[in-house]
Amino acid sequence: MAGIASKHLIRIEDLTVDEIYSVLENAATFKEINTRTIKKLPTLRGRTIINMFLEPSTRTRSSFELAEKRLSADSLNFSASSSATVKGESLLDTAETFDAMKIDMVIVRHRYGGSPWILAEAMDAHIINGGDGIHQHPTQTLLDLFTIQEAKGRIAGLTVGIVGDIYHSRVAGSLAPALKMMGARPICIAPPSYQPDVPEALGAEVSHSLDEALPDLDVVYLLRIQGERAQGLSVPSLREYATVYGMNQWRMDNLMKPDAIIMHPGPMNRGVEITPEVIADSRSLVLDQVNAGVAVRMAVMYQMLGGEGDVATAAR
Ligand code: CP
Repeated sequence: MAGIASKHLIRIEDLTVDEIYSVLENAATFKEINTRTIKKLPTLRGRTIINMFLEPSTRTRSSFELAEKRLSADSLNFSASSSATVKGESLLDTAETFDAMKIDMVIVRHRYGGSPWILAEAMDAHIINGGDGIHQHPTQTLLDLFTIQEAKGRIAGLTVGIVGDIYHSRVAGSLAPALKMMGARPICIAPPSYQPDVPEALGAEVSHSLDEALPDLDVVYLLRIQGERAQGLSVPSLREYATVYGMNQWRMDNLMKPDAIIMHPGPMNRGVEITPEVIADSRSLVLDQVNAGVAVRMAVMYQMLGGEGDVATAAR
């Protein structure tokens, strides 16, 4: 079994390119297992994993939980509203409390960038970042890479437009550097107010015009405006934003390469960054991304915790 050298997965850069490819390879096997009637494997039997989601989540939380169950790990869900966090307990004290319970892995989502490092310092457990503030979301990136590789047959050499509120997006924070590592060409496409402070630090080029960039793109990766992280809109109105940066039927028919794919990490704001017609198009892979999420997270946890046997044997 190919392991992962880093104890924690907090930034996508914690993985080497070879490790990313091994996750994608194992995820393909887990994806096949997830189509079977019996989807459960014994590989992480006896391991304990805490899902510490201190910010809302539908996809990440449920896919980690499903992945843990399918690998036979024991899992515990921890949320802010039903915990001592509401009584003012700090993240550090929470981490030390769980460390005393001898758990193996924590999946953490938190509104503050860098909070997974606080857990990593305080605990013996492996830490996986399930999205921290506007910093990174590395397992989202792995499932995105998996989806791109499945659809296009490769990642290297592709031009990927990341379109929208990149400044507040942890998804973009890990996707852009990952694409660069894998030999693709990421372009941040957004108005100046939604561009990252230092796009070169993400390994990305910059464009302010979706219409100019679209004919070159192999992958159109749309982001929602992160209203919860900004003080109001950084564009004049959602209607104007949709007119200039929204992916719609006209742009798909007239400007996009016919074989380009359309992706979105969710949740989507229909009619803003993407129209219902685009979501329904066969080139829109939004639900393929969700499907890949369970398999990719199974592969990451399996490789980090050193699951029993190799995946191919377990899959027989
Ligand atoms: N893509 C993503 O992180 O979605 P959730 O917020 O639903 O987990």
